[in-house]
Amino acid sequence: MTEFDLSQTDLLLSTTRSVRKRLDLEREVPESVIVDCLKLAVQAPTPSNSQTWRWIVVTDPEKRRELARLYDEGGKGYLQSAAGQEMDPQTKRVYESALYLTDVLGKVPVHVIPCVMGRAESSMNVLSASTYGAIIPAAWSFMLALRSRGLGAAWTTIHLFKEREAAELLGIPYDEVTQVALLPVAYTVGTDFKPAARPPVEDITYWDSWGSTRGL
Ligand SMILES: Cc1cc2nc3c(=O)[nH]c(=O)nc-3n(C[C@H](O)[C@H](O)[C@H](O)COP(=O)(O)O)c2cc1C
Repeated sequence: MTEFDLSQTDLLLSTTRSVRKRLDLEREVPESVIVDCLKLAVQAPTPSNSQTWRWIVVTDPEKRRELARLYDEGGKGYLQSAAGQEMDPQTKRVYESALYLTDVLGKVPVHVIPCVMGRAESSMNVLSASTYGAIIPAAWSFMLALRSRGLGAAWTTIHLFKEREAAELLGIPYDEVTQVALLPVAYTVGTDFKPAARPPVEDITYWDSWGSTRGL
């Protein structure tokens, strides 16, 4: 036994969804909430304790509009053509929701761009994995902390098609810093999110050797 209330921690872990349509575009997000969530986020591990996280919190309306424009330019065509394809209903809903986000992104009150010092591109997987691994666990903790306070976000990467332009806009030294996502952050309309359908873990977990599943 631990001091955790598993009903609460499991609920948090199983219902932290990508929120797009239920982002409250009108409600102001206090700076202190973002800072509180970032303080929790940086408890995440980093390779060799490097602690090379950097966070750009964008509240300036013009910069958010410009990021939304870059996002739109980078990915709307792709999302539109993907949304038109035959696919399962869950994925279809994801694409429709992702398209909706392209329309409102500039109005989402806060954009958070998790960054890491160094460029992630490398021919050696160990190096790329270490660079991305230095920020992604922290960024996910940030999303969990948001959810536990009645806020939400969606993990997005589409603006990275225009990473250099976003770097120029925000004064990020492109050659020295990797942006890994753009998290549109807002209070959520209601907080009753549900676990998503996922493949059975038993089918995708191999014990001791690749392909060796256990029990169903
Ligand atoms: C690496 C990564 C990149 C993603 N990029 C985008 C994106 O650019 N735009 C978007 O709307 N959602 C993006 N998503 C969100 C996924 O589409 C989302 O996780 C998926 O729809 C499942 O929904 P759920 O998180 O609510 O279960 C991304 C998620 C991950 C992990």
